[in-house]
Amino acid sequence: MSDIKKGLAGVIADETAISKVNPETNTLLYRGYPVQELAATQPFEAVAYLLWHGELPDESQLAELRATERRHRHLAPEVKAVVDLQPASAHPMDELRTAVSALGAMDTAGTDNVLEAVGTAEQNLERSIRLFAALPALVAYGQRRRRGLDPIEPRDDLAYAANFLWMTFGEDPDDAVVDAFNRSMILYAEHSFNASTFTARVITSTLSDLYSAVVGAIGALKGPLHGGANEAVLHILEEIGSAAEVGAWLDAALAEKRKIMGFGHRVYKRGDSRVPTMKAALDSLVAHYDRPDVAELYETLEREFVARKGIYPNLDYPSGPAYNLIGFDTVTFTPLFVAARITGWTAHIMEQQASNALIRPLSAYSGPDERHVEGYVPDEAAAEVAERPEEPVG
Ligand code: COA
Repeated sequence: MSDIKKGLAGVIADETAISKVNPETNTLLYRGYPVQELAATQPFEAVAYLLWHGELPDESQLAELRATERRHRHLAPEVKAVVDLQPASAHPMDELRTAVSALGAMDTAGTDNVLEAVGTAEQNLERSIRLFAALPALVAYGQRRRRGLDPIEPRDDLAYAANFLWMTFGEDPDDAVVDAFNRSMILYAEHSFNASTFTARVITSTLSDLYSAVVGAIGALKGPLHGGANEAVLHILEEIGSAAEVGAWLDAALAEKRKIMGFGHRVYKRGDSRVPTMKAALDSLVAHYDRPDVAELYETLEREFVARKGIYPNLDYPSGPAYNLIGFDTVTFTPLFVAARITGWTAHIMEQQASNALIRPLSAYSGPDERHVEGYVPDEAAAEVAERPEEPVG
């Protein structure tokens, strides 16, 4: 079967107006805007608005979104209870997946009729904003729970990124940290038909609901070949220890044919367009926390790996050490990606709903030839089905 596209590599499955990845020019556009420009100039809330509506918000539109987001920041006691029922050792991605599923079950719109559960465009925008607002609270709640600390209530005087850091650490965040964190959220927000977004679109294409699509997307993002890589990057950096150890470590790792997490990309072969912006954010954190050793290890591994393999870092490479410097637990890195990508996922879910076709590819069968269970008496009705014409009549 020569036309099998393993991993759907190179397959254009549909069109999208949300983002454009261009590996030739090494650019990533959200609704036409280069992501670097958005990261340098916009609060994350404005980028969420752009992904959902197609245009950047004016002042009053941004104020309205921010007011709605602030209204939905508080976790309902029922959701906290669902999280608390999970062992503290549960991976936070499992925690998030379960919490989003619970939020879906608590949204009773259309629950008496599965055909209506898909919701209207307005309902789904509302659901998207609710998840956008709830995810930071869930990530912060989870990190504090694992550390045995009391949860911290959100603050209405803080915008999204600053409030996220406040709920996690309980300190007034420094502007440099807020800025680096805000940039990371924007860079992670959207990336066309990546595996988790495609998962969300597949689920949406069956006319299932937005929460189910997000739960599936979280499952897809958990894998280390996708979102789990930012967490894996930190394990690698910790394993190496310091810049002086990079050469010997890399020789051994490559001899064992290990994949070096945070390097390589299915689409970008000459480098990930988001990396320079995130590296600049990492540099500002390195300066803020006075940790030149982090930059030295980062740069040495990059230089040596690129020299040996010609494979460049992806966004997870700078974001892993950046989140570590800010103080997030390593297991929280992929949940941070969820909090950012919820914007892209939900934009795609709404786009899929607006122009839906059930996503159902074919497969090439490679199992045994037809055979029969001993003693089975052929069923005439089944034989008749097999003989029906392929095309509907009329
Ligand atoms: N470390 C070591 N070798 C790597 C590598 C890495 N990070 N990424 C790719 N390669 C090598 C592969 O071993 C393979 O070599 P081979 O042809 O000798 O077998 C070749 O490059 C092609 O890799 P492949 O995995 O087939 O490319 P892909 O386009 O399917 O995969 C990734 C892209 C992202 C899955 C892959 O680069 C990877 O696993 N990276 C690490 C995980 C990661 O950072 N994921 C986050 C992505 S945003």
